[in-house]
Amino acid sequence: MIERLLIFGATGDLSARYLLPGLAALREQGHLGDGFRLIGVSREDRSDDQFRNWVAEQLDRYAAGYPAEACQFVAGVSSYRRADVTDPSAVAPAVAGDGPIAAYLALPPSIFGAAVTALHGAGLPLGSTIVLEKPFGEDLAQAEQLNSLLTGMIDEESIFRVDHFLAMTTVQNLLGTRLANRIIEPIWNGAHISEIEIIWDETLALAGRAGYYDGVGALKDMLQNHLLQLLCLVAMEPPVSLDARDLRDRKVDVLRSIRQLDDAEVRQRTRRARYSAGTIYGHPIPAYVDEDGVDPDHGTETYAEIELQIDNWRWADTVFRMRTGKALGNNRMEVAVHFRPVPHLPAGFDGDVAPNVLRFELDPEGVIIELTGIGRQVRSLAPMKLTAELDQPALPAYGRLLLDVFERNATLSIRGDEAEESWRVMEPVITAWAEDRVPLEEYPAGSDGPARSRLR
Ligand code: BG6
Repeated sequence: MIERLLIFGATGDLSARYLLPGLAALREQGHLGDGFRLIGVSREDRSDDQFRNWVAEQLDRYAAGYPAEACQFVAGVSSYRRADVTDPSAVAPAVAGDGPIAAYLALPPSIFGAAVTALHGAGLPLGSTIVLEKPFGEDLAQAEQLNSLLTGMIDEESIFRVDHFLAMTTVQNLLGTRLANRIIEPIWNGAHISEIEIIWDETLALAGRAGYYDGVGALKDMLQNHLLQLLCLVAMEPPVSLDARDLRDRKVDVLRSIRQLDDAEVRQRTRRARYSAGTIYGHPIPAYVDEDGVDPDHGTETYAEIELQIDNWRWADTVFRMRTGKALGNNRMEVAVHFRPVPHLPAGFDGDVAPNVLRFELDPEGVIIELTGIGRQVRSLAPMKLTAELDQPALPAYGRLLLDVFERNATLSIRGDEAEESWRVMEPVITAWAEDRVPLEEYPAGSDGPARSRLR
């Protein structure tokens, strides 16, 4: 088990909101021993004490539900190194010491390459891992370059391209529900399923993240990685086992089967938009272009919608629709599986039969099956709902993900070829959007997104 975590870009939003609470959860659950150390690395000038105080404040804010001992522990084992993360001689003192480290790059994708080179130059201790957040590069060419740089320095098993969606219990539940139930897998194909929607609508607007988000946008922040991973879990063939090789082989099969959109399809089957001023739950939200730190010339989208098709036996007749947006009127995070209508209904029933829908609610979590049954009157059809609530996960997604990194378990990390295939799928969309071949629409903050969304 790795006992030293170095966070590069330690003073940012990712550390505060996710990594520090993840560590507190690990301590609470008994996964972090007293020998554990956290070293924050960043360009800012801070002393160890200042960093510790900052860590304690963030834990107060974002990990309030965890016991005080766990939060005090994380703050107490923290120290700080000021360094330019792209300079090997500046990074070396932070890396030096006994035992392997986990080097977490909480950095913008544009400096991954330089940071990895600096880490290598600084001399990574044997058995260390490098953790890279999404997006992994900014396009296929960059992902390929990054992969060859990384694998020239460190073995694939030590590279963790993380996607915290895969560590969510509700996301894992997609596989559990599919593969552990006799009544589901036999009808899990295009003969029975007409379309699958993968939706991540957020009320959250930019939340002060312009520095990262304005260079990235909804497609590369969410759709190309998190949503495509959800699609892989929904569409994959049952793996031989859930180990790193079998699971990732099956996900790569899905990605390789996704048909690349041609020029006309990109125009018909993709949409991009950004929010204008509006209100969410009574709070005024400025237009995206007026948010602090946003450069309107970037033309960054805050909403992305794509319709894809998978060219294989199982899914040849099913449409996959993915959508994500910020500053929308409602949080709606779900995978909705729409079944085909029944082939026949005996005469004599009153009312309509709505096709079945199986909904995996991702946040808050739950599984809903929409059926049709008999209502209050004899023979009158009425909608019925079966709802299952899920237990609270033992660990939050970032806690699970960090534990896997410390234990060098790569099951939930994205393999190099998988990262490249994910970019291949999106290449025609990225190019067409960059060349303005798909208009950038607008939607008021607090609305349902651009009008005429094809998703239900
Ligand atoms: C992050 C994205 O990876 O996932 C954010 O960068 C998004 O833009 C977030 O809001 C959603 O995940 P969670 O766990 O915060 O609900």
